[in-house]
Amino acid sequence: MKIQKICCIGAGYVGGPTMAVIAKQCPDITVTVVDINEARIAAWNDENVDNIPVYEPGLSAVVAEARGRNLFFSTDVDKAIDEAEMIFISVNTPTKTYGEGKGQAADLKWIELCARQIARVAQGDKIVVEKSTLPVRTASTLKDILTHTGNGLNFQILSNPEFLAEGTAVDDLMNPDRVLIGGDQTEEGKNAIEALVNVYARWVPKDRILTTNVWSSELSKLTANAYLAQRVSSINSLSELCEHTEADVNEVARAIGTDSRIGPKFLKASVGFGGSCFQKDILNLVYISRTYGLHEVADYWEQVIIMNDHQKRRFAKKIIRNLYNTVSGKKIAFLGWAFKKDTNDTRESAAIYVADHLLNEQSKIAVYDPKVTEKQIFSDLDYLGSRSPEENRKQLQAEKDPYKVCKGSHAVAVLTEWDEFKSYDWQKIYDSMLKPAHIFDGRNLLDKEALKAIGFQVHAIGSTN
Ligand code: NAD
Ligand code: UDX
Repeated sequence: MKIQKICCIGAGYVGGPTMAVIAKQCPDITVTVVDINEARIAAWNDENVDNIPVYEPGLSAVVAEARGRNLFFSTDVDKAIDEAEMIFISVNTPTKTYGEGKGQAADLKWIELCARQIARVAQGDKIVVEKSTLPVRTASTLKDILTHTGNGLNFQILSNPEFLAEGTAVDDLMNPDRVLIGGDQTEEGKNAIEALVNVYARWVPKDRILTTNVWSSELSKLTANAYLAQRVSSINSLSELCEHTEADVNEVARAIGTDSRIGPKFLKASVGFGGSCFQKDILNLVYISRTYGLHEVADYWEQVIIMNDHQKRRFAKKIIRNLYNTVSGKKIAFLGWAFKKDTNDTRESAAIYVADHLLNEQSKIAVYDPKVTEKQIFSDLDYLGSRSPEENRKQLQAEKDPYKVCKGSHAVAVLTEWDEFKSYDWQKIYDSMLKPAHIFDGRNLLDKEALKAIGFQVHAIGSTN
């Protein structure tokens, strides 16, 4: 079966970039991305392509090329469902904040709404593709809803999890390590798998397109994120040991990373991992394991989160300890708010939790991030509910000028590894700060020796001064 029309429900960080790249690579396929969020769709359709709602290097060029040709963004969900042969579901699946599984299980209400809407609207057979990250066995829920509430049509469910990382989404989509497609092992299931393989095969080498049964595919996504996050927590746990033993975590990472069995990636000690995926997906894995009574499995993975929370808290405490055990009334300059460089996404960013801890100690904070808006920063803090929105605005300010942020501060804290921080005039920053001037480099980004030569007291992650 040759796919001519694709619909994607959810125009977020995954739906938007993924569909833009499919549309770019397959000019003969019409791709319509739909969302109930009108503002988001309006931003994707903004005449000025630099105003699209997701910041990713190279993405605006891809959108500019395909938008209006075979890539469309719309709020008319029913129409797009009706017209497409293949429907991707790429809606959010956050951690539940209520009821059974609160704080751990994935909230699947948006997924279920999509399934019910597809069932209600569809007039012909459809291939429904799980693009969202979902608990293993969700496909059976979707199938149940689609067959029992639909118009007696045939639905094939595929699992096609997305492995892109933010900040490198376009590159990851253009040159993926692999594309994973899981489906039923029946004749119809295999045909559906083949239809999706043929979409990706336009630009992805066939040997990088892996096909599996649907459950393996669903579970592989949670597993991949758990493994990646586990590497970060492992190196972060050792960063604390390094700080007590004069070992240097960067040297340790290099030493172990050259072992081809371990490999060099994801060994960068940090202030703690953030992002919308790692924590949510591990919590979900923990929850699923517990529901099967697998408590040792659950405890094993939960430790990755416990370690990450510890690392964020430890960084905040380190700042307080080195500022003579009080930050009350002191100005601390934050460089970076996004959860990693080259994205405007702040979900679960370590910066939010470090700021919250310091604000509880009555510090003043000034923030500069090249891509995150003031509105987003306050929305992140207000969401925690630790203090009133007025108090947050009294204690924290966001600025568009990094030099202004650092001026008059007791300490600078690097929370995100934006490249531009490396090229700042650090002498000028030093001159404008209160003395002794401290730098807490939560990303081991800056040149420690050069900063020390200027006169800074430098506190890195995983090494002594
Ligand atoms: P997002 O919140 O940025 O986007 C989801 C969008 O879906 C929102 O714009 C929302 O309005 C829309 N939506 C929700 N319900 C809808 C409905 N019924 N009809 C139409 N639109 C609806 O989320 P995201 O970061 O794009 O993540 C989407 C999924 O992809 C999640 O399951 C996530 O775990 C997974 N994922 C994310 C990443 C990532 O880097 N962000 C990577 C891989 C996988
Ligand atoms: C992750 C997965 O990498 C991706 O495959 C999946 O599809 C979505 O989740 P993402 O969260 O966008 O991607 O970014 P990633 O590069 O994995 O970084 C996650 C967090 O870990 C960031 O806060 C990053 O700064 C941190 N990190 C990463 C480290 O602290 N050290 C490292 O060595 C690597």
